[in-house]
Amino acid sequence: MRHLMSPLDFSVEELDTLLALASDIEKNPEKYAHACAGKKLATLFYEPSTRTRLSHEAAMLNLGGSVLGFSSADSSSASKGESVSDTIRTISCYADIAAMRHPKEGAPMVACKHASIPVINAGDGGHQHPTQTLTDLLTIKSLKGHLNNMTIGLCGDLKFGRTVHSLIHALVRYEGIQFVLISPEELRLPSYIRQDVLDKHQIPYKEVVRLEDALPELDILYMTRVQKERFFNEEDYVRMKDFYILDKKKMQLAPKDMHVLHPLPRVNEISVEVDDDPRAAYFKQVQYGVYVRMALILTLLDIHVD
Ligand code: CP
Repeated sequence: MRHLMSPLDFSVEELDTLLALASDIEKNPEKYAHACAGKKLATLFYEPSTRTRLSHEAAMLNLGGSVLGFSSADSSSASKGESVSDTIRTISCYADIAAMRHPKEGAPMVACKHASIPVINAGDGGHQHPTQTLTDLLTIKSLKGHLNNMTIGLCGDLKFGRTVHSLIHALVRYEGIQFVLISPEELRLPSYIRQDVLDKHQIPYKEVVRLEDALPELDILYMTRVQKERFFNEEDYVRMKDFYILDKKKMQLAPKDMHVLHPLPRVNEISVEVDDDPRAAYFKQVQYGVYVRMALILTLLDIHVD
């Protein structure tokens, strides 16, 4: 039985296979419409979500399966003090596969140790968000045709941004990747990721504060939200929240073939006036998230469609 805790749980070859399956699903959705008939997905969300929860549910429904679950800790027996391990043992009696989001780093890992069904980490605190990374990889591959030889700008909250942490882990395994890390001093990428991941893999990177300085050299700009829920005090959040605002004027500095990704939700960091720019890819990215999660469910349930 396989779980997905980190993008590194799949080898590069396995990721290629998964992304190819997602692309086939995109082209031939009817072929997969009954692949999970009789199977159930449980979504166990202890933290708010729109895309991750509903795209997992849409994925299972598109595959002909069913869904059940809860969308907040308050509406589950976690509010009465039930542990993650007891919850997942219970859910293992009801469903064939589970996706869990939790504010505490490592909670889905605890769950997978007590589960008798595959568990998907749907985001754990400031740690990892592997299904967002699968979405990001599929989006980049679909738009650029490859995942190597690129300069990727990561902008915003690089300290707490689990989507950024997961994406870096995944991309360093491809040839010719370099990063421009764009953040205020207080929200720099944690040193353990710079040293243990970027330095260890000898990945070229630079850190800049001004988005304008980075834009001309980027193939991909990955914007992120400053996450209110990860700050210890409101004052620091208010000071940081509008540090970056990508607007039409700044987009004039970017190459014509640069794509803008964002895991969403956005607050102010991308002005709505950018939405009509052909380089804005963040709503395409949402759609790719459904295809890739369909591919993931099939892979973890070991279901093959001829
Ligand atoms: N990208 C993402 O994780 O969005 P949600 O918080 O809406 O799930």
